Amino acid sequence: MDDAIASIDIPGINKLKSGKVREVFDLGEQLLIFATDRISAFDYILPTLIPKKGEILTQLSIFWFNATKDIIDNHFVTDDVDSYPEAVQEFKDVLRGRSMLVKKAELIEIECVARGYIAGSAWTEYEKTGIVGGVAFNNLKKGDKLPSTLFTPATKSFSGHDINISFEEMKKTVPEKDAEFVKNKTIELYNFAHNYALERGIVLADTKFEFGRLDDKIILIDEIFTPDSSRFWDKALYDKERLLIAFDKQFVRDYLLSTDWDRNSEPPKLPLDIVEKTVERYKEALKRLTHS
Ligand SMILES: Nc1ncnc2c1ncn2[C@@H]1O[C@H](COP(=O)(O)OP(=O)(O)OP(=O)(O)O)[C@@H](O)[C@H]1O
Ligand SMILES: [Mg+2]
Repeated sequence: MDDAIASIDIPGINKLKSGKVREVFDLGEQLLIFATDRISAFDYILPTLIPKKGEILTQLSIFWFNATKDIIDNHFVTDDVDSYPEAVQEFKDVLRGRSMLVKKAELIEIECVARGYIAGSAWTEYEKTGIVGGVAFNNLKKGDKLPSTLFTPATKSFSGHDINISFEEMKKTVPEKDAEFVKNKTIELYNFAHNYALERGIVLADTKFEFGRLDDKIILIDEIFTPDSSRFWDKALYDKERLLIAFDKQFVRDYLLSTDWDRNSEPPKLPLDIVEKTVERYKEALKRLTHS
């Protein structure tokens, strides 16, 4: 596909990080976060791009940063490329729509996860132990709504798989007062967005936040409530048939599972119709959530 973007380099600007999807540039007190059109599945970056994905994820994050700013301050500064620093002006046509300028914060190195439904690593843990986030439950089925929102922190590991930890363990590395603060904000943010999305036909099953410290305050950083940081399900299919359809990547996953790929080697390319259907899903998520 023609205008999809795989990566970006800005000569003279230090790239702090190249994640599975985003690239982060260091501008001193600020960072420039750039979303490419890369897509990952089963922990691999796929060799095929999804045109517009980077723009849609950026627009979603910005929408939510604005919608939640009364709950907690966040790192967003601007996405108006004309007001970006001089050093990156030359690249503003590529940056437009798929980047944001943010305040650089000191990372709190915990993935703050809120879960309203049981899925993913929480389901795996529950199947083994009957416990999720330190709470024991009886007879839960995969995808069930939990009686109340759970906070299940995790640490990032080098392998790419996050490791779930208890709140008590989290308090060994994060001061108690701060740990309580981010836990409460995580639950409050999730509950707010869950209710909002539900009215628009999306079940926000769980989500992940990162927080950072800036000027003695804790602020929300990274990306929020995008399909890359959250599990989105289609509400109609969930209500009707209890289908846990990954709103964005289901066609991609289904396709990969239909091939003979062993999930332990370079993944195959996606056919054009899978790419097109996936682009439509991202557009649909953006439309449902941001067009009222
Ligand atoms: N305001 C901020 N201040 C400091 N660091 C930030 C800020 N916002 C985001 N970050 C960091 O920028 C990085 C974004 O990287 P990105 O999410 O693309 O890759 P990743 O988390 O390493 O991998 P993955 O692709 O699995 O998410 C993260 O390390 C995140 O903690
Ligand atoms: Mg990340």
